[in-house]
Amino acid sequence: MKWRTLFCLLLVGVIAVTCKKKGHISVILVGATGDLAKKYLWQGLFQLYLNEVSRGHTFSFHGAALTPPEKAEGILFDSLKTLSCPADVEPDRCALVKDQFLKLTRYRQLKTAENYTALHQDILSSLAEEDLHEAGRLFYLSVPPFAYADIARNINASCRPPPGAWLRVVLEKPFGHDYKSAKQLASDMQTFFQEEEIYRVDHYLGKQAVEQILPFRRRNQKHLEPIWNRQHIDRVEIVMKETVDAKGRTSFYEEYGVIRDVIQNHLTEILTLVAMEVPKNITNSDYVLRAKMELLNSLHPVEGSRAVIGQYQNYVQQVREEMEKPPHFFTNTQTFASALIYIDNMRWEGVPFLLVSGKDLDERTSYVRVVFKDNAFCLQKDSARDTVKNPCKPRQVIFHIGHGELGFPALLVSRNLFKPSIVPSQWQEISELPDVVLFGQPLSDYYVYRPNQEREAYSILISNIYRGKKESFITTQNLLASWKFWTPILQELERVSPRIYPGGSETGQLLDFVIEHGELRFLTDERLEMMDIQQNTNTFASTQSKFLGNTMVSNWADQLIQKLAQDIQEAADEAVRHSGSFHLALSGGSSPIALFQRLSRHHHGFPWKHTHLWMVDERCVPFTDIESNFGSLERHLLQHVRIPYNNIHPMPVQRNQRLCAEEDMGTQVYAQDIAALVGNSSFDFVLLGLGNDGHTASIFPGSQNGITGDEMVLFSRSPIKPHDRISLSLPLINKARKVAVLVLGKGKHEILTLISRAESNPNKWPIFGVKPTSGQLLWYIDYETLFR
Ligand SMILES: *[C@@H]1O[C@H](CO)[C@@H](O)[C@H](O)[C@H]1NC(C)=O
Ligand SMILES: *[C@@H]1O[C@H](CO)[C@@H](O)[C@H](O)[C@H]1NC(C)=O
Ligand SMILES: *[C@@H]1O[C@H](CO)[C@@H](O)[C@H](O)[C@H]1NC(C)=O
Ligand SMILES: *[C@@H]1O[C@H](CO)[C@@H](O)[C@H](O)[C@H]1NC(C)=O
Repeated sequence: MKWRTLFCLLLVGVIAVTCKKKGHISVILVGATGDLAKKYLWQGLFQLYLNEVSRGHTFSFHGAALTPPEKAEGILFDSLKTLSCPADVEPDRCALVKDQFLKLTRYRQLKTAENYTALHQDILSSLAEEDLHEAGRLFYLSVPPFAYADIARNINASCRPPPGAWLRVVLEKPFGHDYKSAKQLASDMQTFFQEEEIYRVDHYLGKQAVEQILPFRRRNQKHLEPIWNRQHIDRVEIVMKETVDAKGRTSFYEEYGVIRDVIQNHLTEILTLVAMEVPKNITNSDYVLRAKMELLNSLHPVEGSRAVIGQYQNYVQQVREEMEKPPHFFTNTQTFASALIYIDNMRWEGVPFLLVSGKDLDERTSYVRVVFKDNAFCLQKDSARDTVKNPCKPRQVIFHIGHGELGFPALLVSRNLFKPSIVPSQWQEISELPDVVLFGQPLSDYYVYRPNQEREAYSILISNIYRGKKESFITTQNLLASWKFWTPILQELERVSPRIYPGGSETGQLLDFVIEHGELRFLTDERLEMMDIQQNTNTFASTQSKFLGNTMVSNWADQLIQKLAQDIQEAADEAVRHSGSFHLALSGGSSPIALFQRLSRHHHGFPWKHTHLWMVDERCVPFTDIESNFGSLERHLLQHVRIPYNNIHPMPVQRNQRLCAEEDMGTQVYAQDIAALVGNSSFDFVLLGLGNDGHTASIFPGSQNGITGDEMVLFSRSPIKPHDRISLSLPLINKARKVAVLVLGKGKHEILTLISRAESNPNKWPIFGVKPTSGQLLWYIDYETLFR
């Protein structure tokens, strides 16, 4: 083998010297006869050689596998015959370079430790023979992950290049199937290799449109910086739709599913590129990787209610056949999923990022779509408006990754946003636009750019490995952060049945979904449609009527709670708009727990930062006691939302290490706090319950205090344990702007019926003492209570 002679043959004088100086690079492709190698990797390596052959390094290529040479060589060289050059390479040069490439390529059996040692010896002796020094050694492992550890051990033990030359080991996904397994796999690798030697491939990072995201953001920073944030962006969609199903790979798919297969890696990587802060120097790996980690660390934990999942109808049958499962076998593996992600930082707080992917869908496409808020009102009539600057047309930035109606990678920017600048050596504006409507707009509404030359992701990535551009690969830290984010929801979703969809175009709108109160739900509710048919009425809309002369909202418990939560949020938004803060007073007991749980999911839309939480009543027990109202609030709500510590106002039941001693004056202290913080001592919203004896707050029938008078906060006594209580007085409650009484469950039917007929006597039935002086009283009563 005459590596240098072959190489430098074409080169004259001075370059031949450089050739020697820059040294030699050995590439070892393990899994050389596998599918990925045949389809992409050899072509990528050939492309690398084509680009670099006259730039100084010499190369040799070793295709390796477990099979003995007699069997494998034929297969390998058959697949190398199909290597091709890009259109701009002259045929003569192409033929020449290809011929050289084939001469520099050999098959190696790599099965035993001796085989690795032999490879190493061969490389060294060939180099010595040609008087070349080694610059680097690249192992590309295109093998299943279970084989990694063994190969890694052998490489480390006997195939490391001599000092001064780099070692790069390339790994293909999957990198684990959850946090724990990824960590194990990563630490296996770290025992053999340094972090800088490990290159984990996510081939999406080599897609041309994805690779352009950061450069695009950097080049257009002047235009983007003021608008790339929550004030201007409505939402971001990161989508990969496939038409193929999992047939033929169900044993893999059963273990992974769509989130592990593409969302945890490809789509999450894209999310980081779109959302991270643009580093000072985007060609500096350290800067880019640091910015990426910062973004990953600020993802808000995602839970089940932030996802919708599906499974194509034939999937179970395919698994049964391919994995020889019995006819009653079922599985919750997702073949479709969408996850709603929020980012906890100044730039993105509250902006929904949708990550969507699925198999057996109606089209093959992948894209990132950044949709800007639509908040302009145009008075001038449509036809008279400037078509380019028209602020009433949608505004979007699209990184079209591939396929779809467009059929090629592209960058699109709405003409009413700005005219972007694009790296001219790589991308060009296209003026001959296909007659396609993309996201509701003809292409003529966009500035459209496409690459001068389409390149395979793998050839871009192989070139990046060669250049040591670490930022195009997944570091260990990056990998673990991503798994840490996805693992909890994966576990949660294991127990959730996916929606079954027919597949292809038959799926229709079955997988359409909406974002509602920071959660995702399918747009069409099969259950709802069935009930509609049965009852011919939309039972899910809350009905409004009157109860005791005040507004009554009624529905099934779940929907009722949802409506109440929504009404509280509206009151909160209004109060914050109006006065900068929202004062909410909450009762204890069991009915509000469902409401707390519901509110705890309002992470983002709700102005928690400006909300003050007060207690309507409290039991004289320590907060850690199971009976404590505050304890319950803490467990069901406070732990889940970000409310400033100073805005939380538990009742001071415990003072001087005593519970509710009058001389400790807890009631006065609370009344003073209210007077000091709540304008006119008028709460924005008070939530009450109704006891079976007609009590509300902790004002019980026959109470001497708290029904009238000036007292704001008082000690009271309950007929049931724990007896001692602290409660707001009804006169204080009556100063509120809104008072809601929540009544749930058939157990309350009797008392409700009773008071609907009883004489309005607050001493007998304290609930009658609730009469807001200038505010509004609202009853929230579920159907079970009303109709039993
Ligand atoms: C690989 O190692 C095995 C066992 O040591 C040996 O039989 C075989 O010949 C080796 N293959 C090559 C190509 O050297
Ligand atoms: C890696 O190789 C070195 C040199 O042969 C050896 O000392 C070290 O123990 C190996 N590491 C592992 C984890 O086997
Ligand atoms: C950016 O980083 C690269 C890689 O470290 C370096 O070569 C280049 O000089 C840096 N550019 C600037 C403007 O600092
Ligand atoms: C307090 O009450 C007075 C008189 O009713 C009213 O004018 C004022 O706006 C109220 N202040 C607040 C903060 O609600």
